[in-house]
Amino acid sequence: MDVIAAIQRRFSVRKYGPYELEDEKLKRVLEAARLAPSARNVQEWRFVVVRDPEMREALVDAANGQQFIGEAPAVIVACAVATEHVMPCGLHCFPIDVAIAMAYMTLAAVEQGLGTCWVGAFNADRVRGLLSIPSDVIVVGLLPIGYPAVEAPPKKRLPLDEIVMQERWRD
Ligand SMILES: Cc1cc2nc3c(=O)[nH]c(=O)nc-3n(C[C@H](O)[C@H](O)[C@H](O)COP(=O)(O)O)c2cc1C
Repeated sequence: MDVIAAIQRRFSVRKYGPYELEDEKLKRVLEAARLAPSARNVQEWRFVVVRDPEMREALVDAANGQQFIGEAPAVIVACAVATEHVMPCGLHCFPIDVAIAMAYMTLAAVEQGLGTCWVGAFNADRVRGLLSIPSDVIVVGLLPIGYPAVEAPPKKRLPLDEIVMQERWRD
């Protein structure tokens, strides 16, 4: 599958089939994160893979009751261990670096017939507590992963000419 096809096929999967996630497929997804770029190549991402059903249920509670987190056979909890660095542009690196790695994982998942859903609505302290994540480590996102049990809905996106400007900003 080429990259554009994977991007076109990816959607937020909020219903998962009752199938195990093969170790090899999960490893390939995590390898995509490992190879992602990061500012100064710091690679501050760390990933906690949660397969235990009770822990996944606890993550549902820590994430506003979003049930599909418990349905997915695994949840990748994406964290950052070095969070201080600010680029000359004024932005912190860590959310960007971890987001790129997570985006790569979403595409590596699609390539293998899997689905994911980025979950940003969670209580970080509760997730930290559940998974024994130290207080200086930031939890950036949760990524449930498994076999989609729904079809992709049509994509709702702005047209290119509304989001792209040529040569300078135009109102
Ligand atoms: C930073 C971020 C946080 C998100 N948080 C949630 C979430 O907590 N729960 C959820 O169901 N979807 C969440 N989403 C998924 C978005 O709603 C979804 O990507 C968007 O509606 C576009 O739909 P698509 O992914 O199917 O193309 C999040 C996406 C991003 C990028």
